[in-house]
Formats: sequence, structure tokens, C-alpha cells
Amino acid sequence: MAAPLIAPSILSADFARLAEEVRAIDAAGADWIHVDVMDGHFVPNITIGPGVVKALRPHSAKPFDVHLMIAPIDPYLEAFAAAGADIITVHPEAGPHIHRTVQAIHALGKKAGIALNPATPAKLLDYLIDEIDLVLVMSVNPGFGGQSFITSQLRKIDALRKMIDKTGRPIHLEVDGGIDVLTARQCTDAGADALVAGTASFKGGPSCYAANIAALKGAD
Ligand code: DX5
Ligand code: ZN
Repeated sequence: MAAPLIAPSILSADFARLAEEVRAIDAAGADWIHVDVMDGHFVPNITIGPGVVKALRPHSAKPFDVHLMIAPIDPYLEAFAAAGADIITVHPEAGPHIHRTVQAIHALGKKAGIALNPATPAKLLDYLIDEIDLVLVMSVNPGFGGQSFITSQLRKIDALRKMIDKTGRPIHLEVDGGIDVLTARQCTDAGADALVAGTASFKGGPSCYAANIAALKGAD
């Protein structure tokens, strides 16, 4: 099985040195830079907005994987696209017309992802799967880093892998929350090809980042 793409979540970086942290995690082998945007309304935490994404953009050439946990969502898509997001992932619960939101992301020239909360079934994608570029399986309830992996999501990853393969399209299957070396392996075995990792990427400080990412890729 190919090594998964690793998308370190900068939520676990040192916010006082964010640009340096992005440079360091990029140099350490991150495939994507995962940006968790939270509004204190859709989820019970507030993080960063498009201004910070724009400021970080010159510090890495890797794709910015922007995970929006905000409601409403449609009024903010343009700002994140302009700030330099490459993939924009949205929660179906964050707006009344998710299909239209996906169309809007594509109209901005960006890749569109759908995030499924732990209780949201894979079936929700029946009439969306042919339109999207990425599925993000939330293996924790969104809002905070450092939570424990919810094991029931492995069944969902397995079901989504089958659904994606049936389309014949190159749709990424990414998992977010509670990823460590053990759960990373479980997710890739179930069919994931990209893993978000906050705590596990940034633990120990910059001198550990390369080893952290290599371990998540299963290289140790
Ligand atoms: C949770 C975020 C995650 C989170 C991952 O709402 O979407 O990206 O930061 O953090 P860890 O890897 O620490 O569980
Ligand atoms: Zn995330």
C-alpha cells in the first residue's frame, strides 16, 4: 500500500511563530498544509481567518488544505480562495445547499472537499460523490486538536473507499482527528490515502517533525 499523504494541522503549531512553523513542517516532509478554520458558532472554538491564510501562503508551495468549520459558509468561500486555499473542505451541516456550495468552490477554481462528522453517514454523499475532489472523514467531533480517535469511523472509511472506487475518479479519502502511528495504519488499511495530523506532527518541536511525519507514513 502506498504511503499516505500527511497533512499536518497547524492548529497544533506554535501560533506565535506560525510562518516558521509552516516552513519547518513543509521542510520536514508535509504533503499538504491543513488549516482548521473555526468560528465559535459552528464549532465551539475560534481559530483563524483568511487574513492568516494569506499571510502564510508565501511560506510554503505545498497545497493548502483548508477545512472550514464555519456557518454560514457561502459568504466566505471567495475570501479563502483569494487567500490561497487549494482545497476547500466544507461540512454539509454548515449551509442549506451543499451541492451549490461545491459548485461555488469549483467556480472559484479550487478543489472541493466534503467533511463528514462522526455521526454523519457516508450515504449523504450518494448524490455528491461525482462532484467532489475529496472526502474528509472526521474521526473526532470537530472543534479541538488532541482528541481520541473514534474507532467506528474505520467502517465509514471502508465504505467510502468502495464508493470512491466505483466512481473511477481520483477522489482523495482523508481522515482528520486523533491520528497517531497506530490509527494512521488502521486508516490506510481501511482505504484512506491522506491523513490530517496535528498533535502527532508537531509534538516535540521542530527537531522532531521529520521523524514524526516519517512515522505517520509508516516509514519506521
Ligand atoms: C478538529 C480539526 C483537526 C484537529 C486534528 O476539528 O479538524 O484537524 O486539529 O488534531 P489532532 O491530530 O491533534 O487530533
Ligand atoms: Zn481539520
